[in-house]
Amino acid sequence: MKLNLIPKPNKLEELGGVRNLNDGELTLRRDETIPAEGYRLMLTADVALLEFSTDAGAFYGKQTLRQLRREDGTVPLVKIEDAPEFAWRGFMIDSSRHIQTLDEIKAFIEAAASFKCNVFHWHFCDDPGWRMESERYPLLNSVGSWRDGWGFNNPNPERYGGYFTKAQIRDLVQFCADRFITVVPEFDIPGHSSAVIKSYPWLSCTEEEVDVTTNAGVFSNVLCAGKDETFAFCEGVLEEIMELFPGKYIHIGGDEVPKDHWKACPKCQARIKAEGLKDAEELQGYFTKRIAAFLRSHGKTPIGWNEVLDAGMLPQDVVAAKWHDRRNLCDPFANAGGRIIMEETSNVYLDYDYRTTPLKKTYSYDLLPDSLTEEGKKNVLGVEAPIWTEWVETFDRMCYMCFPRLAAMAEVGWTKRERKDYEDFKRRIEAHRDALAALGVKMAPQSDWDPA
Ligand code: ACM
Ligand code: ZN
Repeated sequence: MKLNLIPKPNKLEELGGVRNLNDGELTLRRDETIPAEGYRLMLTADVALLEFSTDAGAFYGKQTLRQLRREDGTVPLVKIEDAPEFAWRGFMIDSSRHIQTLDEIKAFIEAAASFKCNVFHWHFCDDPGWRMESERYPLLNSVGSWRDGWGFNNPNPERYGGYFTKAQIRDLVQFCADRFITVVPEFDIPGHSSAVIKSYPWLSCTEEEVDVTTNAGVFSNVLCAGKDETFAFCEGVLEEIMELFPGKYIHIGGDEVPKDHWKACPKCQARIKAEGLKDAEELQGYFTKRIAAFLRSHGKTPIGWNEVLDAGMLPQDVVAAKWHDRRNLCDPFANAGGRIIMEETSNVYLDYDYRTTPLKKTYSYDLLPDSLTEEGKKNVLGVEAPIWTEWVETFDRMCYMCFPRLAAMAEVGWTKRERKDYEDFKRRIEAHRDALAALGVKMAPQSDWDPA
């Protein structure tokens, strides 16, 4: 019987035959020579041994063992020596545009953890709604968490919204920690801020009322970069975020920031002049640098979408997420020592339908393109797949879009290129359908994976 391991281990020897393995029969042993997140699993007639250097490695070894176990309780005899190619194997959930329940998010995370994903990037604020409880800025919840309708562009007229309480968020962060998943919270600033500006209109350049939008798109209302009050607000929110999310990384967005209001705003123009900046683009560079410095002073590492590189002013400790790099700045940034996460629309935007991004295209994503030097390749932290939810209204739809493509991404991040095999992946992932369904995660039917 063939093995169905996902991601495929980097070294695997099948010894032939099977054995029983009862609870308590597996010997666990620490071996400091094993790489972080790596493990060695030996299952012979006489030996059942799992070795690792970190608790994460032990967890991944157990995930492999769980995938090896057959219905009759036996396990095949194998020798596995395994460790990930890339340190970052992430998924992003957009809880702003449509909301998931806490249990749905946990089910999704359980599925992602089973494929050894280790980063949950939580996009919990955007133009269509704010989803994190804030005690310092309560209007973010009483105002910014609600909009007039669900669905987009032509919404159903019911009031729609809600947010995650701090207790729920702490519970979720612990749930992730138990699965060796780091949660990376995203405070998407200074654009994508309609919900924030609806709550506190004085944060924008015009101070005019806006709606928490029910339209998909990019909006010209952005946070005013000329006012010190804007920075005080952002730092206050970030302090609340840092209390909830203990991880090293904080995502500060930075994508799709229209500059028309900044160009017309006396305060933004005064800032440009006072700081000796060239234009509104450099004002975004100033904004990013100032927020990054605040996070650095708290021992955090900022991440931004690739637009944070556009002004050419970014300190190297900021990580750039390459999603749609129109100016092609990510690769030179990595070649010069900056770190990047591969997250391109072309291969891993899981809100794109299977016609646009067939499973095979996700599976064949090249994380180390030739545009990277040897030095640049070392600065690729790994891969991440977002699920944006403008058009993803239900959890079943989200699972349909993400599985099996997220499992393909997980193998892209874990398995050495030369060991990948698409036909074999398709066979293996199909064997996971029932286990995913038992979690409440319904995978797309095979007939939809690679449309003609
Ligand atoms: C993005 O898709 N706006 C990062
Ligand atoms: Zn302004």
